[in-house]
Amino acid sequence: MLDNQDFSISRNQFPADFVWGAATAAYQVEGSVDVDGRTPSIWDVFSHTPGKTYQGQNGDIAGDHYRRYKEDVALMRQLGLDAYRFSVSWPRVLPEGRRGIVNHKGLDFYDKLVDELLANNIDPFVTLYHWDLPQVLQEKGGWKERATTEYFCELADVVTRRLGDRVKGWITLNEPWVSAVTGHITGEHAPGETDIIAGVRAGHHLMLAHGLALPVIRDNMTRPDAQVGITLSSTYVEPGNDSTEAKDLALLVDVISNRLFLEPLFKGQYPKELPDNFFLPMVPMEPGDLEIISRPVDFLGLNYYFRTLPLNVEDFSTYTIRQAKPPESQYTALGWEVYPRGLSELLNRVYKDYFQGPIYITENGAAYEDVLEETKEGPVVHDPERTAYLAQHIGAALDAIKEGVPLKGYFAWTLYDNFEWALGTNARFGLAYLDYPTQRRIIKDSGHWYSQFLKNKV
Ligand code: FCB
Repeated sequence: MLDNQDFSISRNQFPADFVWGAATAAYQVEGSVDVDGRTPSIWDVFSHTPGKTYQGQNGDIAGDHYRRYKEDVALMRQLGLDAYRFSVSWPRVLPEGRRGIVNHKGLDFYDKLVDELLANNIDPFVTLYHWDLPQVLQEKGGWKERATTEYFCELADVVTRRLGDRVKGWITLNEPWVSAVTGHITGEHAPGETDIIAGVRAGHHLMLAHGLALPVIRDNMTRPDAQVGITLSSTYVEPGNDSTEAKDLALLVDVISNRLFLEPLFKGQYPKELPDNFFLPMVPMEPGDLEIISRPVDFLGLNYYFRTLPLNVEDFSTYTIRQAKPPESQYTALGWEVYPRGLSELLNRVYKDYFQGPIYITENGAAYEDVLEETKEGPVVHDPERTAYLAQHIGAALDAIKEGVPLKGYFAWTLYDNFEWALGTNARFGLAYLDYPTQRRIIKDSGHWYSQFLKNKV
């Protein structure tokens, strides 16, 4: 099954307590969107709006994980994962968006999932918000409104009260940058707004929600080794060429893509490079906000996929930036440059400049055009590029550890192919192939490689 690829990397080279896992998100895998009291999220509404997603697809069924979670945990065990990162669907737990009604059937699902994981020696890492805001809250303004931060604390309280005795890792938010910018400025994601003021307000409120929820979560997480943190998107930025324009733009793109959230979190300020008269007046700042946002976390989660090589701005209002595409580089099916060294560079920089505590890579992976082949021995998917991608990035993670970064874990994105937001089923990132018509999960060659690696067999 395995390719004869030698990546000269083995699990033995990592610290014994390094956590190896895979990640998913509720709306991308669960399906069962209208059962047991769940109400629509902004992603249900967005994906059912014509023209918003690839071929008008939605997450109504996705990986049917809500019903097949036991099969999925068995798959994780077969792969040899130590940990599984998943997210909680807010409208499944709080159908009214806030505490008024707590939907016990929704909470029961996560309770059973956590127990199933622990029974299989897999540690749960739970993301409280991975983009699926209840639509009822969106109708009141969603993340543009400060009140949403209180409702998020209610969600955090209800979930951590129920699961806090068993969950090892709590992640407040997944990639607030994407929620704010892609959801409110470029409009490619739910709720599909295209207003820079909306984006800045949403970003600030997301960060505030994170800070406000921290003490709530800490009060309820009773597992002795439990920790709480946040997951940020990240990209390694270098100028696309030697021009002054590209160099200046690279600095700005780094400020916007990386520092916009790192600085408030770890320095209690917005980046000084953002033009005062442009950015700050849009921030719905109240006294004390930055102190709340910069409350200490136990760990930082970073998602890393690619390098960004800005050349020039095409349209700033939609944040469209032209990038260099070095011909010698490799690219994934989404045109993302494969650049493992960017991961070690970023980890070193974040450690040096922002956070000296534990860091986890909470997502890393690649989409390729996988083909399912039926053979006499059974179904197979040959995906040597993804194996190379994973091995090289795991190698970059090891470099960072050797250079002194306290990196504590790595989560591959993703367990199996799933509803890739606006790209629907058109971007396959899984360690296992999801055959949508039959819902079969078929471990790809890369999944077999990861599994062999985890079992110390490569
Ligand atoms: C990240 C998201 C995750 C998935 C991957 C490919 O930005 O957190 O849900 O879409 O990208």
